[in-house]
Amino acid sequence: MANHDASEPLAVQQSTRQAEQSQQLARQLQLPLVDETAAENFPYVLCYTEQGLAIAQTGRKAAGPVIVDFAGGGSEHRRQHGGGELIVKAVAGSKKNRATVLDATAGLGRDSFVLASRGYPVTLCERSPVVAAILRDGLTRAGYSEDNELLAIIERMQLQTMDAISYMRTLNEESAPDAIVIDPMFPVSKKSALVKKEMRAFHYVVGPDQDSAELLEQALATARHRVVVKRPKKAECLAGVKPNFSVAGKAIRFDIYSLRAYGK
Ligand SMILES: C[S@@+](CC[C@H](N)C(=O)[O-])C[C@H]1O[C@@H](n2cnc3c(N)ncnc32)[C@H](O)[C@@H]1O
Repeated sequence: MANHDASEPLAVQQSTRQAEQSQQLARQLQLPLVDETAAENFPYVLCYTEQGLAIAQTGRKAAGPVIVDFAGGGSEHRRQHGGGELIVKAVAGSKKNRATVLDATAGLGRDSFVLASRGYPVTLCERSPVVAAILRDGLTRAGYSEDNELLAIIERMQLQTMDAISYMRTLNEESAPDAIVIDPMFPVSKKSALVKKEMRAFHYVVGPDQDSAELLEQALATARHRVVVKRPKKAECLAGVKPNFSVAGKAIRFDIYSLRAYGK
């Protein structure tokens, strides 16, 4: 079984401004609630910052906190100036009408946000309660935006805090999505020191996904039209299952398992 609860020691750091929320979160995630001094005993803590709920590294050389911010930074830039065309192409091909999408490995919701900002309704499954809490916080904050375009995007994103394999098993022919996207965690490479802070935090919290072969198998049995798997550009295809075709960018590749052409 995969390692999907906090696999390493983790705590919620008490925030003075959001004391009650911190307590609630610690209870909900069954994590210890610690003050700033005790937080130093944990390599990472969850804490409410002014920007939102974050996974924060502790210690003197700590990288900045990881939060989900759909209203600012990279998300806003992508929304205004494009980006993520590759995933849109991989998911939709030349389909004119919007495909419905299940993002089976939601993470911080970046891929889902790209798809939702292009008009695709996306169900996001995230099984790590910790990652899902950060993502839910980002969606909730974006939901208070006064930007109607952003609100419409967020409305297209529906989060399910559960295992995608179990979720897919609840679907029938009518409720099955057109496309399913899978972006599993892969083992940390030798270059791990260079891995971005998000990935290091992720690896700490969820560890590698050891059941992604089963996830692919269930996705292939569930999607109406296609399954799209995101891989590092030079990686083997997932579980050794060859895709029908791939589209590649500089560092990543999308493997496309085509089940039925769109329109059929
Ligand atoms: C590499 S991250 C995905 C990043 C994401 N594509 C993004 O754009 O932010 C993988 C995530 O998938 C989650 N995950 C892996 N297998 C899952 C499953 N069977 N069901 C739900 N979530 C899963 C992990 O907990 C982790 O948060």
